[in-house]
Amino acid sequence: MANGEEKTERIDYILEIKGLEKDFGGIKAVRDCTLSVKRGTITGIIGPNGAGKTSLFNLISGFYQPDKGEIWFNSERIDSLKPHQICQRRLMRTFQIARELQKMTVMENLTLIPHNQLGENLVNIWLPPGAIREQEKEIREKAFEVLNFIEIFHLKDEYAGNLSVGQKTLLEIARTMMADPEMILLDEPGAGVNKSLMKKLVADIRKLNLTGKTFLLIEHDMDLVMNLCNPIIVMTEGSKLMEGSAHEIKKDKRVLEAYLGV
Ligand SMILES: Nc1ncnc2c1ncn2[C@@H]1O[C@H](COP(=O)(O)OP(=O)(O)OP(=O)(O)O)[C@@H](O)[C@H]1O
Ligand SMILES: [Mg+2]
Repeated sequence: MANGEEKTERIDYILEIKGLEKDFGGIKAVRDCTLSVKRGTITGIIGPNGAGKTSLFNLISGFYQPDKGEIWFNSERIDSLKPHQICQRRLMRTFQIARELQKMTVMENLTLIPHNQLGENLVNIWLPPGAIREQEKEIREKAFEVLNFIEIFHLKDEYAGNLSVGQKTLLEIARTMMADPEMILLDEPGAGVNKSLMKKLVADIRKLNLTGKTFLLIEHDMDLVMNLCNPIIVMTEGSKLMEGSAHEIKKDKRVLEAYLGV
């Protein structure tokens, strides 16, 4: 490096949140919240009930408008964008499978995803039918690829409503994968998931992370967080209390106090 040049490495943040606030009729769900997520990490968010974790996700994904503050994704300000515009920028969150989708198979759940499906678009009346078939074929191929990657191919013809909690979580992740996200937000993916599927969930998240996807996940299951996430952000009363490795979090007195409400 040439003389006098900056030696400190610039950290590559995929997501940056600055001074974020959200008030619900006097309850400050999120207050002066500032945090950043490094590209390529599996970052965890923990914190007591009501700390504002889910509200923060709703703000990031555009479902709530912040009262104050900024959200930046890939160096673009996104806090006034609509949810679909945020998805288009490849920042996705998982959703519980909606009631209508429970009656459809896993495969149908995946192939219904892309919004720009040519076949659904009126404008494409003018397109030759071959183009529509070609895109449908591409979507099916993509679905097969995702099912194989998440290793739920054997469930492809099962109705979503018949899946176990853990299998539904895997399907939710598979659905986001159809849109090729860069970053995925998961709100308590481990909730209600049995031990063996939990292992699979962890393995799938790791595998996706190795392909370059960044994860931000809220979780109450400490084993899951400690074993999967680095760094871990601790939220209390709407803002970040601290951030560190599992080891650092475990020995921090403030974290214990936050949980015990001292
Ligand atoms: N849409 C809403 N309207 C009114 N109050 C809300 C709304 N969403 C969240 N809150 C309030 O904001 C605070 C933070 O809630 P939030 O759900 O974000 O917490 P959380 O950290 O996700 O909690 P948990 O760990 O229990 O899921 C709570 O006091 C909650 O009651
Ligand atoms: Mg929550």
